[in-house]
Amino acid sequence: MSSLKNRLTQLFSECFSSLGHDARFGEVTVSDRPDLAQFQCNGALACAKAQKKNPREVAQSVLNAASDRARTELGEGARGLQLSIAGPGFINILLGDELLAEHTWAMAQDPRLGVQKVAQPRHVVIDYGGPNVAKSMHVGHLRSSIIGDSLSRIYRFLGEEVIGDNHLGDWGTPMGMILCELKRRQPGLPYFDPAFRGPWPQESPVTMEDLEEIYPAASRRCAEDEAARAEAVKATDELQKGTHPGYRELWRHFVNTTVKGLEENFGQLDIHFDCHLGESFYEDKMPPMVARLKQQGHTEVSEGALVIPLATEAEPETPPLILEKSGGGFLYHTSDLATVEYRVNHFKADLVLYVVDKRQQMHFKQVFSAAAKVGLAGQAVLVHTWFGTMNGPDGKPFKTRAGGVLKLKDLIQMVNEEARKRLQDFAAERNYTPAEMDDIAHKVGIATLKYADLKNNRAADYVFDLERFSNFEGNTGPYLLYAAVRIQSILRKAQDQGFAPGRIIAPSVASERHLLLECLKLPDVLGRAHALYEPHHLAEYGFALSQAFNSFYKDCHILSEKDEARRASWLGLCKLVHGQIELCLGLLGIRIPDRM
Ligand code: ARG
Repeated sequence: MSSLKNRLTQLFSECFSSLGHDARFGEVTVSDRPDLAQFQCNGALACAKAQKKNPREVAQSVLNAASDRARTELGEGARGLQLSIAGPGFINILLGDELLAEHTWAMAQDPRLGVQKVAQPRHVVIDYGGPNVAKSMHVGHLRSSIIGDSLSRIYRFLGEEVIGDNHLGDWGTPMGMILCELKRRQPGLPYFDPAFRGPWPQESPVTMEDLEEIYPAASRRCAEDEAARAEAVKATDELQKGTHPGYRELWRHFVNTTVKGLEENFGQLDIHFDCHLGESFYEDKMPPMVARLKQQGHTEVSEGALVIPLATEAEPETPPLILEKSGGGFLYHTSDLATVEYRVNHFKADLVLYVVDKRQQMHFKQVFSAAAKVGLAGQAVLVHTWFGTMNGPDGKPFKTRAGGVLKLKDLIQMVNEEARKRLQDFAAERNYTPAEMDDIAHKVGIATLKYADLKNNRAADYVFDLERFSNFEGNTGPYLLYAAVRIQSILRKAQDQGFAPGRIIAPSVASERHLLLECLKLPDVLGRAHALYEPHHLAEYGFALSQAFNSFYKDCHILSEKDEARRASWLGLCKLVHGQIELCLGLLGIRIPDRM
């Protein structure tokens, strides 16, 4: 079904064209003065300007035409509709209660709650998660995963073809560093014997905990010791070229061990991917790409390295993209360029979103410029949908009390425990079974974590305040969950009393009218989240809707209402609001427990 904004746009467009003007002037927008009207049409100004006419006169003729047309096209709904001219020629559109009720009821009956799919679905690749081998996921990867997963859900709901890709960091110099560090510690392992050809042990010689300790140690050593660094670079080269079979075998254990740990984290967070094509996947795609770019004359040699120059007259400072280091070896840039090519050719990507930390802005700027310059991206639009940092209460990147990097699994445990503590307040009265308590605490914990993140504009840094974000009051995940659970329980009670939700009729109370108006906004809100790659619009909306519901619920005593049509209408509204909150939370990746 069409949104009310689109229906009104259609009506005004027809008016403009019936008066001999261009239909595009009929665009209706949400009013920026909601105290005066809910919608407005500003086209008369531009139309008058184009035709050198008086804007108020044009507005008046459109208004007259619209009043007539509304009567025939909106039927009952036209009752109470008020059109007026403001300022130099804006048309204010104040909805009547009939139209409001009629449209809300149509949304309530639509399985998609009034949200249309996009007219032309695209292939959209969303690159998120992207953790690195041998490192546990920490809060930095949390943001990428949560935001990327939400964008995937939003894009999919709107009918786009989404491919969620976890671009694992599994191929650079860190791999060589770990190989060398392990060799120093356990030189007897068969992997380090260049002549050994198998059979290889099935069991990994290292656990995730080992890797977490080995990698920082290796990294420290390479930073301090030039020779160790050179050795790591050499091992990386041998790993990548495949000249040392044991390195490949051992590397595979590092990857598998890490991936197993990641799956656990992603599973707990209910975060999903369609594929896991890490950097190593592009191993065999880089050499032919580089050779071709060289042959096509796109490259230069600079200080021994093979580069694509990117400086332009407008931006003479842009550093070149390094394709191949002096002495050989590909880099993060190279694999990302090969990744662009693969996504465009194999996935037929029309749009690629890179949900990656803001600190990588220069990297993506270079990759995107190079891809455009050498013609690798075709028609695809590449966007770095970057995000800011999650900080601790001290305003610095979130750390443990001891000052270490907080592991994701510890953070998840923290929010779960906090949720459990707060749920204890009702536990006695609600008689939760232990299994139920586990389920609710987990859902509340995840809602706390995800909502705290997704309610912010992704570009902003934010402070994670466990106390505040776990609260059942305020702009928090638990507050929204609680609103949804409460509506569900009203609907259940109604059903027990034999009352069913019915047709939504014209509102009679201010808070009820306000709630209907809120409900109308959903299609626009989703449109904004989709167009701007910003999930926070959904969070904001879910919060405003829950608040509007709570005010309505205070004023309107649903179950004791004697007027049958009114009671059925209120229950119909409850059902719609519940559906909308459930949808918003679902698109943020948050699940609602049955009760709380
Ligand atoms: N592994 C990278 C990191 O931890 C993120 C990967 C992002 N995606 C990409 N195509 N570069 O910083």
